[in-house]
Amino acid sequence: MKKVFKIVGIVLGCLVLAAAGFCAYVAVTGLPTYDPPATPKITVARTPARIQRGEAIAQMLCIKCHADKENRLTGNEMTDLPAFFGKIYTVNITQDKEAGIGNWTDGELIYYLRTGVRPDGSFAPVMPKFPIMADEDMESIVAWLRSDSFSVQPSRNETPPSEYSFVTKLLAHTVLGAVPYKQELRTIPDSTDEVAFGRYVANGLASCFACHSADFTKQDRATPELSAGFYGGGNEMKDEAGNIIYTANLTFDEQTGIARKYTKEQFIKAVKYCVRPDGSVLSYPMPPHTTLTDYEAGSIYEYLKTIPKINNDVAAKNKQARLASN
Ligand code: HEC
Ligand code: HEC
Repeated sequence: MKKVFKIVGIVLGCLVLAAAGFCAYVAVTGLPTYDPPATPKITVARTPARIQRGEAIAQMLCIKCHADKENRLTGNEMTDLPAFFGKIYTVNITQDKEAGIGNWTDGELIYYLRTGVRPDGSFAPVMPKFPIMADEDMESIVAWLRSDSFSVQPSRNETPPSEYSFVTKLLAHTVLGAVPYKQELRTIPDSTDEVAFGRYVANGLASCFACHSADFTKQDRATPELSAGFYGGGNEMKDEAGNIIYTANLTFDEQTGIARKYTKEQFIKAVKYCVRPDGSVLSYPMPPHTTLTDYEAGSIYEYLKTIPKINNDVAAKNKQARLASN
């Protein structure tokens, strides 16, 4: 018996040492780096249709983090993340060759947007990754970044370096590391299949699941359905005043989901303009999605009907958070 305890003790001791060693390694090396990737050789044709589509997507996905007060993508401080991520700044992604991304190739941009790995192998832990976005939508974003839109004209602005917390560095070495690059054809599902189309709009395009599941650190960008608490909400974020706000439960759970509160038309209005059925306005950081069409926003509603229901009373959590902050 004593021998067993001794062995268990040694094993536990080794585990503690290994964990301590790994933490020390992360503290010293910081964010992970990868081999400079072999990026796809591709030149995106900048057709007017693509630029228009790219602008609609960028309005929805990129502006909220990268834009300054004039709506130029010169970088900004991120204010909606829980404090444990550190002090995070987005960067200049205008066409300037030094301060921005004017020197990146189209392939390098696409590789980065899908995986989080820069051409030199360095890694972006906070910037969202879009591994399952359709090729056509991805190329539309790139076409728009190269366009003569006011938002992306060269600017010399540089944001301060981000101060990533130890937790962020640790997560970047583990669950929030680079998303593997897959050489495959990704198409937009036929819009006549409203559920399949809605699944793409929600998960592949707008990434609603990222905010509306349980936790940023437990999400799966490549297979969103594997994210913890998929669309059950409760993810902790910060509102405009810096107070804690938990994201809404978007499943159709009878007690705590949004189904009982929203018709499809009301849902479309909430998603596009951030207005609830009673006329009240949804709080930051819920972004307005004005550039989604009614059909796109409505298809998300049809898709959400089909996913597993999760019982999670977010309204009660938010009430508690408000009481605690007063
Ligand atoms: C949730 C906030 C957020 C959103 C949304 C976002 N970004 Fe970023 N982005 C960041 C942050 C933060 C960085 C800096 C790297 C890091 O900390 O992960 C970054 C870095 C980048 C870089 C790397 C530039 C460099 O010089 O290293 C590019 C390119 C980029 N973003 C493009 C985009 C595009 C295009 C979109 C829209 C499809 C987008 N980002 C949406 C937060 C965001
Ligand atoms: C940046 C994080 C973020 C993203 C991305 C996001 N949401 Fe939200 N959403 C929130 C937060 C936070 C709330 C809670 C707002 C409140 O309580 O006032 C919310 C609330 C909502 C509500 C209202 C629920 C209620 O309580 O009445 C709906 C509907 C909704 N989101 C749908 C979506 C859809 C669909 C998408 C994708 C197209 C999306 N959201 C993307 C953060 C986000």
